[in-house]
Amino acid sequence: MLRFFPLRIANRRIESSSAISIAIEVPTRWRPHFKFTPGQYLTLRTQVDGRDVRRAYSICSGSNESELRVAIKRVEGGLFSNHACDTFESGQAIEVMPPHGDFVISPGSGAERHIVGVAAGSGITPVVSILKSVLASEPLSRFTLFYGNRSPEESLFLGELTELAKGFAPRLKIINAYSRKSDNDGVIGRLDKVFPHLLHTFVNDVQAVDRWLICGPENLMVSATEVIGSLGVASHRIASERFGGRGEVAPEGTNCDAIVHMRLFGQSTEFSPGNLTIADGAIEAGVNFPYSCGIGVCAICKVRVEEGRAAMADNTILPAEEIAKGYILACCSYAMTPKLVIDCDVE
Ligand code: FES
Repeated sequence: MLRFFPLRIANRRIESSSAISIAIEVPTRWRPHFKFTPGQYLTLRTQVDGRDVRRAYSICSGSNESELRVAIKRVEGGLFSNHACDTFESGQAIEVMPPHGDFVISPGSGAERHIVGVAAGSGITPVVSILKSVLASEPLSRFTLFYGNRSPEESLFLGELTELAKGFAPRLKIINAYSRKSDNDGVIGRLDKVFPHLLHTFVNDVQAVDRWLICGPENLMVSATEVIGSLGVASHRIASERFGGRGEVAPEGTNCDAIVHMRLFGQSTEFSPGNLTIADGAIEAGVNFPYSCGIGVCAICKVRVEEGRAAMADNTILPAEEIAKGYILACCSYAMTPKLVIDCDVE
């Protein structure tokens, strides 16, 4: 449902030196809309300098918990995330779209499984929701988490995870890797580099792992998927989601004077996105353009280029065949030619 609900921030918590989390207050009458499966995200909408800006943030609370909470980490050049970290506070109004996303695990009380999570940076957010939900709901299941960060100070949920590891021992095992600094309880090294060794040390039988979850930057996703796949693990048992790192800066070659001709709901409209993405440019021009996550993961903003050229700065969902046919994600794409004709009504 592409509808924003006017809600409030119940409270704001510091999660690391560069991240906060906010709990969202949902009135009883709207709670059915905000039931979530662990691993899903919420799209938040607010005004930044008079601009309508929306971004998706993963839910970090478990389905066993009473609150609905998302984590927001600062990103270099991140319009929404930096604004949120600087200004969001308890009681503030915020517009929120109901949960979406397919990087999920549904807990089941009778399940007995071993899940391995490989997460770095803010990629921990959906994983921590899944971890808490599964361990609380499935007394026979266990979870091994490989968690990479630059330093303990920059690690989201470090205190909470430490407590969870104690509370759920021996079903929860957490292995921290720090690329810049380690404490007594962490391995030194970037997770994508040290993962093969850690996997060999801490997971005895990879074939006995029921589900692999990889969430973090591109290099981690690619290398961890390769390592796990090379051990004979079937690809349907590996789920991955790219996370973090996208700035909001127009790529080199963006034509800031471009005119976009957009066909949407049978109507034609023209606007100049300047150095904004096509989706942000449309919203800025007052077009009721439907988009959700804003980070290239949901494909709600998929459109087709009919004339001209656009550059996609991000994409985790469009397959190569669709890109070859001219499809782009408008939330991550910039106009590269003086004239860009796009059709939003194609399937
Ligand atoms: S709005 Fe989700 S991919 Fe563009």
